Amino acid sequence: MKQPAPSKSAPPRSDAPYDHRYHAGNVGDVLKHTALVALLKGLTAQPEPLHVLDTHAGGGRYRLKPTGEWTAGIGRLDAALPADAAPAVHDYLAAVAWNRQPSHGGGYPGSPLIIQAALRPTDRLTCVELAEEPRAELTVALSEHAQCVVADGDGLSALVAAASAAPSGELLGFIDPPYSRKQEWAEVADAIFACWMARPTVRLMLWYPIKSASRPNALKGRLRAAGVPATAIELCSTPLHDDSKRRNALNGSGVLLVQPPPGVVAQVAAALPALGARLATRGSWTSQVEAWEAAP
Ligand SMILES: C[S@@+](CC[C@H](N)C(=O)[O-])C[C@H]1O[C@@H](n2cnc3c(N)ncnc32)[C@H](O)[C@@H]1O
Repeated sequence: MKQPAPSKSAPPRSDAPYDHRYHAGNVGDVLKHTALVALLKGLTAQPEPLHVLDTHAGGGRYRLKPTGEWTAGIGRLDAALPADAAPAVHDYLAAVAWNRQPSHGGGYPGSPLIIQAALRPTDRLTCVELAEEPRAELTVALSEHAQCVVADGDGLSALVAAASAAPSGELLGFIDPPYSRKQEWAEVADAIFACWMARPTVRLMLWYPIKSASRPNALKGRLRAAGVPATAIELCSTPLHDDSKRRNALNGSGVLLVQPPPGVVAQVAAALPALGARLATRGSWTSQVEAWEAAP
């Protein structure tokens, strides 16, 4: 098992301001939250108590404006689904439905609210958020849930610390950085490797954007070379070489799962045809599922 070359040290605070309010409910959130819901369903079906650490938690609940990115994401799933759509798609829509009701502002839930709703009384959630405004909003949104804690700081450092602490029950690290700094790609690989070394039973889920194949491929190559077992599930709803695409817009995204419970990868993969068909911007979509084992 090889240790990945350490990434250049970088400040934990982002150079460019990132505001998830502009992206909430977009194509990336649809894949991310579909996989998150399937993963939580699998983990909460097991007897062990679960601690979820949401490394980049965001504000918790988002208003959807008429021209927002959500119109190309969750907005395209509003029409009735085909009867044979995979259960993971129905589970995802059920998980976000409450927040989407007009009586609740017609909004969209962020990962902390989706996770909180899935927890059992024995489980807990730690949300780390670096920016003051979303952290304050999230603190209010979760204030009635004693099993949820909202913390300031760097989410990846908090996750590595949790993985290095004495184990009690299951630990799921949900990693969803803004990728507003190029170094974040290397930092997430280093953090995943450190967690896996510190706690061989750790469960991890990473979301990453796809705007070209190079950074996702480098990330996967780095983890594979380090011997961390994982499955990457990717969905592109806009062709990678589409010149008419708005600059910096997503072509698609991927989720990387480290040690998911049995059946979760198959459930997320089964959701891709229904999601791809609805989200495709040019009439076609592509998907890929790539798995590799731990290094011997
Ligand atoms: C993609 S958004 C999170 C979305 C959220 N996970 C969801 O699924 O609804 C990324 C968030 O990470 C926060 N952030 C940026 N750098 C961070 C860091 N080093 N540690 C923790 N949070 C950070 C940003 O302020 C932003 O709210």
